[in-house]
This record gives sequence, C-alpha cells and structure tokens, in this order.
Amino acid sequence: MEHKWINNTDVLSMFPTPVWKIELTSEAQKTVNKNILEALEGIRPPIADLISAKGWQSNHDLHKLDEFRVLVSYIGDSVRTILKFLKIGYDDFEITGCWANINPSGASQRTHSHPNNYLSGIYYVQTQARADTINFHDPRAQTGIIRPPVTELTVDNTDQVVVKVDSGTLLVFPSYLQHSVETNDSDRERISISFNIMFSSFTENLCKPLW
Ligand SMILES: [Fe+2]
Repeated sequence: MEHKWINNTDVLSMFPTPVWKIELTSEAQKTVNKNILEALEGIRPPIADLISAKGWQSNHDLHKLDEFRVLVSYIGDSVRTILKFLKIGYDDFEITGCWANINPSGASQRTHSHPNNYLSGIYYVQTQARADTINFHDPRAQTGIIRPPVTELTVDNTDQVVVKVDSGTLLVFPSYLQHSVETNDSDRERISISFNIMFSSFTENLCKPLW
C-alpha cells in the first residue's frame, strides 16, 4: 500500500493450511509401484466392471499386506518429518486405513474429507496428462458467503487450489481439508493409494482437556 501517510505495511498471513508434496526417486517408485501393482492384480475387479461402476476402491487394510511394506515405511518417514515440522511433541501414530483407488476414463471423486484422523495422504502409482490433478478446497467455509469477482485468482482470494501430481508423488495433508478429483479425461486408468494417519492411544494420552 502506498500512501504518503504510511510508513510500512505488513500483510500477516496466519493459520496456513499445509499440503506436503513429496516426490519419490525413480528407483524408489519403481520398487513401490511394482509391488503395489502386483498386489492389486490379485484383488482388483476386471476392467469392464470397473468402467461400469465408474471406479473402484479396495478394502481399507492394504497397509497390512507385505507388498505395501515399503510404501508404509516411506509414509512413516514422511509423517515423522511432518510432525517434527509442526513441532508436535508426540510421535506415536498409526495408519488407520489404506486403500487403492482405480479410476478409469470418465471417473471422478466428489468433495470429501477424512474425519477422525489427523493426517491423510495419497500416493500416485499411475497418473498421466488429463488425469493428474487433485483439488483442495478452502477449509474456512464461511469465506464463501461473499465471493466478489476478482481480476486475478491468487492464493489470497481463491476458494480452491489445483495441485498437479505425477506418478511417484506422495501428498500428505490435514485430514480436515476437503478435496475432490476431476474426471479422468485420459484413456488410461488413474491408480492411487490413499491412507489416513491418527495418533496412537489418543484417548489414553492426548484427549485430556487442554485448559
Ligand atoms: Fe480423499
């Protein structure tokens, strides 16, 4: 702001909503993807069923499979680093659910969040052009009450951020953060692994009143 009467102006951005975007090395993704695709081969429905159902989700305990051991260890490393970054003084956590999503051409995912967890994440096994984004929605719902027109979309006025992902991308975000996925406009399947993280023994150690 430039006025003769102003000495200095600071814009204080507060309460940020972090989304961690981690790219695996090509060597790491090769191992992880091979294991995952082999495991999915045995449990996924045939492609025709998948297309007519507009997508498929596996059951929610894939993290217990041997083929997911390496991915689970990468998730663990990432979460430990994130908890340190957030200066959280408790690092006993567990994966409460881990499942595969296979979206054929034409499939999308409605807006949702992952209640009763602290962090959520997605590892992308197979994405390609026209099937390589995820939308995150402003968690401050009341900001939608007034939406004046803007001359340019910026991080300060948007209600949605589109994040581009690649095969080998690992995203981690707060579980309260709503997200959605646009229609797969490519002619190949988009394959991803979702997971949730919660503090272990939360009721025993963490849910006492804070004041
Ligand atoms: Fe999700």
